[in-house]
Amino acid sequence: MAGSFLRGRLLSLFDYKTEKYIVAKNKRVGVLYRLIQLSIIGYIIGWVFLSKKGYQETDEAIQSSVITKLKGVSATNTSESGLLVWGPEDYVIPPQGEAVLFVVTNFLETPNQKLGHCAESSKVLDGHCGDDKDCEEGRMVVAGNGIMSGRCLRKDVNSTGTCEIYGWCPVERKFKPQGPLLRNAENFTIYIKNFIQFSKFNFSKSNVLQTTDESHLKRCQYDEELQPYCPIFRLGDITRRAGYEFHDMDTFGASIGIMINWDCDLDKGFSHCHPKYFFTRLDITAFNKTIATGFNFRHARYFKNAAGESFRSLFKVYGVRFNIMVHGKAGRFSIIPTAINIASGLALMGAGAFFCDMVLLYLMKKGDSYRERKFEGSRNNTTSKSSGEEEDKAPTEQENLTS
Ligand SMILES: *[C@@H]1O[C@H](CO)[C@@H](O)[C@H](O)[C@H]1NC(C)=O
Repeated sequence: MAGSFLRGRLLSLFDYKTEKYIVAKNKRVGVLYRLIQLSIIGYIIGWVFLSKKGYQETDEAIQSSVITKLKGVSATNTSESGLLVWGPEDYVIPPQGEAVLFVVTNFLETPNQKLGHCAESSKVLDGHCGDDKDCEEGRMVVAGNGIMSGRCLRKDVNSTGTCEIYGWCPVERKFKPQGPLLRNAENFTIYIKNFIQFSKFNFSKSNVLQTTDESHLKRCQYDEELQPYCPIFRLGDITRRAGYEFHDMDTFGASIGIMINWDCDLDKGFSHCHPKYFFTRLDITAFNKTIATGFNFRHARYFKNAAGESFRSLFKVYGVRFNIMVHGKAGRFSIIPTAINIASGLALMGAGAFFCDMVLLYLMKKGDSYRERKFEGSRNNTTSKSSGEEEDKAPTEQENLTS
């Protein structure tokens, strides 16, 4: 007996069990179910597959390298510095061609500073003094230019003066920029060379036209339609694309972001992966000018005279900082995300059926009769149909005991 029972169980493993359906002739739930199915199919095909490219495997870890080069010359004539010619090696800081670079448009030079004693600048609050007691010898001037020597330099006994300091003298004068000094900086051009790689797909590309014509880069200028692979931009065009005129920012300086975006569909092939450029001004919030707007810093150039004495020229430079950021992602057909998305769509259909079941069984007027058909109690004696489950169980247990 027990042997044949086990064999029966084992053989039933290889039976295929299929589900039995109950057809509910209810038009309202039927229409609801078709609508749910239709919207799920629309969501899967339209949104997941066509719009979000759910059949693709993606690589968002773009590897990129950027190198920049500026061209253009400007001349300035100031009382401190005389006639100066500015080439890229002078106005680009740092000059190595990095992805973050600063272009000088305006400056104040304090030439021929030498270590020695002189009056602290009147701009420095901690340097103000009434008499020598305010200038304690050896103390640093807070936010100042040197070390106090102990003397207070005044025009006469009653006026306030500034402490004498030991530092690079003379100190920088008070300066309020009146206008840009490198007037044609908006006509400088910047060449942005960008190489990218998606290592997952072994794909690499650059934003420069693949040509052997060496004069191409000398003649071309970027144009979104005509020359998308000529990454040479006039600085004035960059700021205009960011929504500002260059002369809005060449006096006090600014910060400009250049975004290069690579959105590559590798199923369409190599030639469908293009760089897109976006420009924004970064140092301004909601079009309001504040004291923080602008960009400047100081740097010095050192030299020695014939007698071996050290001198320096201090430059306070204003200008535009460019920050080049590269983003991107690539996608290519892959069976795994395709299968996952199809499976999740089918599971959603199941959820739709479940929802319609709920509506049919619990919200419809004839729900009770559907429920009776759908849920069949399994029991041995079929005499007491109307009685509840608990009551059913008790006699069957007794039967088991007695048999
Ligand atoms: C920039 O170049 C254009 C054309 O060469 C010229 O007309 C314009 O005056 C230049 N701008 C400045 C500020 O020098």
